[in-house]
Amino acid sequence: MTKIEKIVLSYSGGLDTSIILKWLQETYGCEVVTFTADLGQGEELGPARAKAEMSGVKDIRIVDLREEFVSDFVFPMLRANALYEGQYLLGSSIARPLIAKHLVGIAREVGAHAVAHGATGKGNDQVRFELAVNALDPSIKIIAPWRQWNIRSRMQLLEYAEQHHILVPSDKRGEAPFSIDANLLHTSTEGKILENPAEVAPDHVYQRTVDPVDAPDTPEIITIGFERGDPVSVNGKAMTPAALLTGLNGLGGRHGVGRLDLVENRFIGMKSRGIYETPGGTILLAAHRGIESITLDRAAAHLKDEIMPRYAELIYNGFWFAPEREMLQALIDHSQTFVSGEVAIRLYKGSASVISRTSPCSLYSADLVTFEESAIAYDHHDAEGFIRLNGLRLRRWAARNGR
Ligand code: ARG
Repeated sequence: MTKIEKIVLSYSGGLDTSIILKWLQETYGCEVVTFTADLGQGEELGPARAKAEMSGVKDIRIVDLREEFVSDFVFPMLRANALYEGQYLLGSSIARPLIAKHLVGIAREVGAHAVAHGATGKGNDQVRFELAVNALDPSIKIIAPWRQWNIRSRMQLLEYAEQHHILVPSDKRGEAPFSIDANLLHTSTEGKILENPAEVAPDHVYQRTVDPVDAPDTPEIITIGFERGDPVSVNGKAMTPAALLTGLNGLGGRHGVGRLDLVENRFIGMKSRGIYETPGGTILLAAHRGIESITLDRAAAHLKDEIMPRYAELIYNGFWFAPEREMLQALIDHSQTFVSGEVAIRLYKGSASVISRTSPCSLYSADLVTFEESAIAYDHHDAEGFIRLNGLRLRRWAARNGR
């Protein structure tokens, strides 16, 4: 085995990665470079720097990836209306390839031949990190301490922290925190009482949305502008991708939009229960479907809906940088050429409903569909032949069955 000279660690400054940092330094006896991505998790990143410094890290990288995250990962995924198992907006799944991309970039820059991450051996995130690193640089070795060390539970982790004088964070109520993953797209909460799917999630689990019951009694109407499938403005005001999503998170959160309590199937094989809060993403999904409804051809829209579950599963399973994801993305992106216009959304007590849509590229024809007299040449008699031919095989089938 060749000795590892330098490791780049994906470091949040939280309990797990603080312990991993110490463990890597002790186990490999080499320099560890920390990389902390600002994905809009809403935590201060100053403490991460201070903790890394205290652990003797010389090269500390804290990088603001918010714009790249939203424009190059969240928005492309939104163009597909991607949902895993019909409900999950993939907030954690979509962040991993971006973090992996920068881990690899920093490793190359500092001449490290190994990267490390704090994902456990039971989850999806280890798979996502590692498949992405494999796809971007097969020469880089990946260290996953959770699969190597003798720590087997959160309890043992806390003991290790105590022995090594690592500060154990607690939540507002002084208890050990849930397993939380947050970024500009969502907050995901797992573990503790949530591990029993029969238990109702307690109120204090929720971080960025109010209970719809407590949301304002008056609805709020907002407009979202789209250009070629991507949201570009809110209430007529142009915004950068990260600013736009941040703004919608605030609006949606106030109205209790985007809560999800889900039992999902992990790639690795087990079922898990989590609470998701995706206020801005939930609004954007409704709005994007709204603008597509008037700008996409029927067959194009239906084809998108057919491939969507496959595309979402690829992202969930960690295949963002795989050729088949890129092929599907090319198809999806091509479909968005005319997906431009404006959608009005009503936010009210947990719901985000499309209430109107307009587009300079609309395929909608009031003249064609109207119940009234219309100027457009449409011969009602054509429908008779259309139905007769579509019914041909059904009449044969029924006759044969003796109906
Ligand atoms: N189950 C979600 C996924 O696989 C979230 C995983 C990370 N979240 C967490 N709270 N640790 O995408």
